[in-house]
Amino acid sequence: MAVQNCNILQGKRGLVFGALDERSLAWHVATRCVECGADIVLTNTPQALQLGALPQLAQQAGLTVIPCDATVVADIRHLLAEAQTVLGGPMDFVLHSVAQSLNLRRHRTYEKVNYDYFLKTLDISALSLHKILQTALEMNAIRDGGSVVTLTYLASERYLYGYNDMADAKAMLESVVRQMGAIYGTAHGVRVNAVSQSATNTKAGTQWDEQACFARYVDDLSPLGSADADACADLCVSLFSDLTRKVTMQTIYNDGGFSRTMLTGRLMSEFRNAIDNKNDITQ
Ligand SMILES: NC(=O)c1ccc[n+]([C@@H]2O[C@H](COP(=O)([O-])OP(=O)(O)OC[C@H]3O[C@@H](n4cnc5c(N)ncnc54)[C@H](O)[C@@H]3O)[C@@H](O)[C@H]2O)c1
Repeated sequence: MAVQNCNILQGKRGLVFGALDERSLAWHVATRCVECGADIVLTNTPQALQLGALPQLAQQAGLTVIPCDATVVADIRHLLAEAQTVLGGPMDFVLHSVAQSLNLRRHRTYEKVNYDYFLKTLDISALSLHKILQTALEMNAIRDGGSVVTLTYLASERYLYGYNDMADAKAMLESVVRQMGAIYGTAHGVRVNAVSQSATNTKAGTQWDEQACFARYVDDLSPLGSADADACADLCVSLFSDLTRKVTMQTIYNDGGFSRTMLTGRLMSEFRNAIDNKNDITQ
């Protein structure tokens, strides 16, 4: 359950990339940031704003939305200038919650990827963070001591059947976090971290064919159970706050312990039951 009466982001200004609809991790983070006292601006691509529910959600919440394709530097420059005008100064925090794979969407398996799609996956899902940080650094758009968080997934470092070219994108994304974290930290004390989130039921999270089956397996294999979107939002808020002012260049696992577990008693019982039942059938 989320902490009540939170005001740890009081007086902070934020920019949130990637809220598409109510299920989006970015929407959960955005609403939690506002509950915790922040002033924020939202952004997504012009296409997403046409097709998704964000304009309506933002209007209901009284939030400004500025269109930006995060792969286009001119768009990012315009966004960072406009957001500073709306918010009244440089940002204290930025959430990068941006990903897409046309190979995944069009069911091209990893050994048969389309290379134009592959490059697009890397551009949208990893290089966009570099472009945002490079532009912000040039424009001094993030306040000294500010905080940037991106969302990643464990398949960056372990093989996961079906995750496809997004695994490569996440590996690159985590490398950008370390490299730009060092550079931006040295220059302006700005922190850059990645939250490695449990599989969550969102539009991007359900592009993968095996999602439903996998979600059940992961939940069973996590000592605390999988982390939902609200838990992701709470962790992001703490990373945007001053409480985590010395945490940077990290990949932080918000996954109920999944990434550190080989087998739980719960899953072992399921295997045992399955084997026992099979034995029954064969007898
Ligand atoms: N849902 C999960 O299971 C899960 C788990 C771990 C990490 N993540 C990561 O969390 C992030 C958010 O995903 P989500 O699950 O909330 O799904 P989502 O589909 O709601 O969010 C993805 C967002 O990326 C935006 N986007 C795509 N191309 C863009 C571009 N060129 N410029 C700007 N924005 C663009 C989309 O419009 C969308 O809003 C992604 O990086 C995803 O990989 C998701």
